[in-house]
Amino acid sequence: LVETPKGGFVIWLTGLPGSGKTTLASLIEAQLRASELKVETLDGDEVRKWLSPNEGFSMEDRERHLKRVAHVAGLLSRNGVVVICAFVSPYMSTRKYARSVIANFVEVYVKCSLETCQERDPKGLYKKARAGLITNMTGVQDVYETPPSAEIVVDTEAVLPEKNASEIVSKLQDLGYLAGSAGV
Ligand SMILES: Nc1ncnc2c1ncn2[C@@H]1O[C@H](COP(=O)(O)OP(=O)(O)OP(=O)(O)O)[C@@H](O)[C@H]1O
Ligand SMILES: [Mg+2]
Repeated sequence: LVETPKGGFVIWLTGLPGSGKTTLASLIEAQLRASELKVETLDGDEVRKWLSPNEGFSMEDRERHLKRVAHVAGLLSRNGVVVICAFVSPYMSTRKYARSVIANFVEVYVKCSLETCQERDPKGLYKKARAGLITNMTGVQDVYETPPSAEIVVDTEAVLPEKNASEIVSKLQDLGYLAGSAGV
């Protein structure tokens, strides 16, 4: 396995539901694995089941859940793992907390308009929220606080996923987290 220049780090993908976090996480993971890096992905839906089975989607519950995620990601990254986190993480305060407990933290804003996310609606959650079947849906009943200073911003409306993923990898090289050859 290949070592990274600054050791492990966390790629924290934040964005509206349907913005493309899971799609990009799996593309980035594949690209980094191909470069023989140690990679682990923590993705919202999957991780929630075992890490926070009793939490819902209120602000307090989301905060508790994501604080746990941040600590897990921090532990892995300080042991040399490249951790890809894919969580809506709608609150600035939570992302700030994650940044404060993770030494090598790279915030990626997965940017996509609410209109397009609602059209994509890959899980049918926006439809359910509009029909009143679920509450606390980010973008419908709940806020998404746009990151003012993410290290990386990708536009998933104008740019194809593969291109977004390559942009992220090359930005990670620019930031010194990946050696020049990684992922290319
Ligand atoms: N450039 C792009 N990047 C990523 N996804 C894209 C892009 N263009 C279109 N899509 C599509 O948008 C959808 C994004 O769904 P995805 O499950 O990745 O979103 P998500 O952010 O993980 O949502 P959630 O927060 O609900 O888990 C997919 O159907 C994907 O194919
Ligand atoms: Mg997802």
